[in-house]
Amino acid sequence: MTDMLAQIKSLGDQLRWAASLEALPIGTYSEVLCAGMGGSGISGDYAKAIAEPFGTRVTVHKGYGPLPPWADRVRPLVVASSYSGNTEETLDFVQVAHEHGLPIATVTTGGQLGEMASRHGWAMVEVPGGFQPRAAAGYMLGALLRVLEGAHSVDDQRLSFVEASDLADEELTEGSGSWELAQEVAGGLAGRIPIIYGGGPVSGAAAQRWKTQINENAKTPAWWSLLPELDHNELAGWEAMPQKTTEHLGIVALTDRDDHDMIGARLAHTSDLTEDAVPWVARVGSRGTSVLARLISLTIAGDLVSWLLAESAGVDPVPVTRIERLKELLGGTAS
Ligand code: F6R
Repeated sequence: MTDMLAQIKSLGDQLRWAASLEALPIGTYSEVLCAGMGGSGISGDYAKAIAEPFGTRVTVHKGYGPLPPWADRVRPLVVASSYSGNTEETLDFVQVAHEHGLPIATVTTGGQLGEMASRHGWAMVEVPGGFQPRAAAGYMLGALLRVLEGAHSVDDQRLSFVEASDLADEELTEGSGSWELAQEVAGGLAGRIPIIYGGGPVSGAAAQRWKTQINENAKTPAWWSLLPELDHNELAGWEAMPQKTTEHLGIVALTDRDDHDMIGARLAHTSDLTEDAVPWVARVGSRGTSVLARLISLTIAGDLVSWLLAESAGVDPVPVTRIERLKELLGGTAS
């Protein structure tokens, strides 16, 4: 699919597809290692926010092997997510996990990861192809959640899937509250380098998604930081060049009900202390009840902002030429 907005708008359908998958009997795991990069890897960060309240420890691994030193002792379930199935870091990591005899499940459209899964008999969810990996977030996250259900790492997610997919349909309909908000935020960020703040498991994971969507769709730099940590370093960094930062940067703060009670006060004081140096363009709060729905609501707002920023800058949100070029330079297969 070549139209990024159509891909973004299919999020609800993607989640419904995942919800309709047959159950995957994988065993029982309270330790999970999610491996993946970029638009596929973010599903691990989201799964962490969803699974940890169930007492499952989720470690997100973005890179090559080796395994983290504890993995041989703890024997986590490794879930390798790669939309193309050809991402070299993920392939390297899963190969190492296999050599160490760890249990492995995969989420992919196929590629080399799909071949490895068939050859070694790993559990695999084959997601539909034809999307940009980052725009297949509903497939990748939904399938990963179904794997975690099959591994008894999370409880039955059916209600969350219904809530999240309905919310996606509603919020992605043009003229919705999310569209209006996204237009305001994109207007405030136009011509600026966005810095996205989050302060908890949901808002922090979504801040990372906003940053990467702005990078890949709008083709601009963007960064994300987490409260309370940023109050111990980044806060001081707004001191020395207020003229430059006021002109070129803009902050968006994401909030969620699982943010610690002190995060609200920290945001208020942090914005007061930095108002001379950077416009605080917006605060965007999550909507919904389940963790999945709240993640999806913040994702939609960020995806729309990234698409609107691409539109206003006159860039095509779909191709990620430099990422593809780098993969070729390294001798891999482009997504
Ligand atoms: C491109 C995108 C990238 C890829 C990343 C890893 O749309 O989102 O961030 O996700 O380069 O590739 P895959 O997802 O194929 O493993």
